[in-house]
Amino acid sequence: MPSFRPILLLLVACLLSSTAQASLIISKEVSGLPSRLALSDSGRYERNPVVRGADATVTLTLFNAGDKLIENVVIVDKSFKDTAAYTLVSGKPSAKFASIAVNANRTLTFVVRPNVVGGVRDYPAVAEYTVEKTPKTAYSASKGAISIISQRDYAANFAQNGDKWTLFLLASVAAAGIPFYLHQTAAEGIQGDKVKAQ
Ligand SMILES: *[C@@H]1O[C@H](CO)[C@@H](O)[C@H](O)[C@H]1NC(C)=O
Repeated sequence: MPSFRPILLLLVACLLSSTAQASLIISKEVSGLPSRLALSDSGRYERNPVVRGADATVTLTLFNAGDKLIENVVIVDKSFKDTAAYTLVSGKPSAKFASIAVNANRTLTFVVRPNVVGGVRDYPAVAEYTVEKTPKTAYSASKGAISIISQRDYAANFAQNGDKWTLFLLASVAAAGIPFYLHQTAAEGIQGDKVKAQ
């Protein structure tokens, strides 16, 4: 009985090499508030948790990993279109680039403010482009969902005591410093008046 295995392997190899030709690699980064390394519920270390009511920066990086010029790029990220979940603060979740040279990167950055807590569905960013006039499509790897936490959880789990003390210190300096400053300037005013009177 003849074996179809070599043919199958050849087919798989062809498939793999054709997908490997996708020359545009898109990565998506959603960066919330700064934190020292802290262990999240899922047991992973998270650096910049996304917090409700706080600005989060979305960065899409487009990398030409192929060996030909990429042209006529139109990229759209639909994940942040849900206005119940996000308010767009600045920038736009879409962009056009005339070209991306071999080995070069282009970035698209915009700022959103999450309005909800929990997992919000994340869609891959989609880029349409051409290589030697042939239309192609690339997708960013999907995160599945973006996890948004409350300010309280952020304070409890991610903002370390050091940061809280800094804030407390700044707040108390401002609270104590402003009346002191007003008193000083008033006192100087009185002194000045006295000098003039003499
Ligand atoms: C573009 O990004 C890729 C992947 O992160 C990196 O390997 C490459 O060095 C970058 N190229 C430039 C010109 O920065």
